[in-house]
Amino acid sequence: MRYILALDQGTTSSRAIAFDERGQVAALAQREFAQHFPQPGWVEHDADEIWATQLAVARECMQKLAAEQTGQARTAPQIEAIGITNQRETTVLWERATGRPVAHAIVWQDRRTTARCEQLRAQGKAGLIQRKTGLVLDAYFSATKLEWLLDQVPGARARAEAGDLAFGTVDSWLIYKLTGGRVHATDASNAARTLLMDIHRLAWDDELLRLFNIPRAVLPAIVPSSGVLGETAPGLLGDAPIPIAGVAGDQQAATFGQACFAPGMAKNTYGTGCFMLMNTGTRAVRSRNRLLATVGWQGPATLGARRTAYCLEGSVFMAGATVQWLRDGLQMIEKASDIEALAASVPDTGDVFLVPAFTGLGAPDWDGRARGTLVGLTRGSTRAHIARAALEAIALQSADLFGAMVRDAGIQLTELRVDGGASRNDLLMQLQADLLGVPVVRPRVTETTALGAAYLAGLATGVWSGGGDIAVQWAVDRRFEPQLSEPARRQRVARWREAVARARGWARE
Ligand code: G3P
Repeated sequence: MRYILALDQGTTSSRAIAFDERGQVAALAQREFAQHFPQPGWVEHDADEIWATQLAVARECMQKLAAEQTGQARTAPQIEAIGITNQRETTVLWERATGRPVAHAIVWQDRRTTARCEQLRAQGKAGLIQRKTGLVLDAYFSATKLEWLLDQVPGARARAEAGDLAFGTVDSWLIYKLTGGRVHATDASNAARTLLMDIHRLAWDDELLRLFNIPRAVLPAIVPSSGVLGETAPGLLGDAPIPIAGVAGDQQAATFGQACFAPGMAKNTYGTGCFMLMNTGTRAVRSRNRLLATVGWQGPATLGARRTAYCLEGSVFMAGATVQWLRDGLQMIEKASDIEALAASVPDTGDVFLVPAFTGLGAPDWDGRARGTLVGLTRGSTRAHIARAALEAIALQSADLFGAMVRDAGIQLTELRVDGGASRNDLLMQLQADLLGVPVVRPRVTETTALGAAYLAGLATGVWSGGGDIAVQWAVDRRFEPQLSEPARRQRVARWREAVARARGWARE
């Protein structure tokens, strides 16, 4: 049996999963790491801690795999390749000579550059940016975060211009560390999230670099999502070097892992946030409903004409993070999974709505100044109603994305594939089907983010030969059919939109 090691570096934890050739999880290790909130609206990570936890879980996962497999087969399991997938947009800046970060990484959720985005919008730059990058001009993406670091870290701009500093999203950072500093690269799906790449040419764009004051010398090389780009430094993960053969942003990797290879196929991942992506084929579709056009992947040559896939994406910033807030902020539940029973203890929310705009609103509202709002409370409201409103908010935000996607694509989506931690919550999945009005389908393997990275790496190294090999491994666990009448569904969504309107424009800074 051959194995692929997927490194899944997420917003709140670093994970490593070994998959076998059948696409099944053979071993898994996970570690959480610290979140830093130095000011309201700021979110930072220590890039060294990201690397330390990622390396530790990779080693632990390989040990677990060896312990299990050696017992059975009496030979050490062979890791064919590594696939990397990662929280996107988060911006790391480090010294090339030492590999030391010059500051904390600025996380995708960080809003510190909202005013800079507003300034660029006032200068009329949003249209140009959307045409070239497919993205909305928002603090979510990397460019203004990198500009901020270059301006605020003493000496950084001059050192960057001299070629002494390297920028990367988390994939680049891991590649750099894994290869012992030999490779500075990013894949097209991650580069597509920086606001600096022309997604039609898959190349860094000089006009955008000038707009955001980014010197070319800091940028990584853009490489395909599937293909050997380097190998691990000797001794890092065992004696023999392992090829690094797949890289994709976590949401694009999940779309690949869900085998959404044909245009019109869509998935929604319920992680820290919620990210819905639909394959739109070999060309980027320009959204008219404030969704993002993004590179899905630049796959292996074996995918032929469909090698480069584009996606429409809707990004919601708070999904699982809303449940974490009920657990840690309000201490309403002990563990995240307790929310299902609490929410199920009442038949409805009693017209209570929670708009979890804690870090502003993503698609389709894109309001960096929106803030969390709880409306409709009465003396009869209990924590069960609030818990149910939190689950409904996750489903309603996703329903907003789904509606925008159907309007943009001009086709009626007939089902939605789901994955991520909260997709195991049956009540949430039923609410989702009810509020979408189409069936929600959960696959047997919900680790599709890591699986997608493993597939990209395995396709490049001959473990799988093409999309067909992968599509046959995808199997249904459960299908949730909508049970709400169409008028009732529409009314619920309309009421939600009223609640969203009340959350908008609240923050002053
Ligand atoms: O765009 C941000 C996204 O990539 C983060 O994903 O799974 O870490 O919440 P996750």
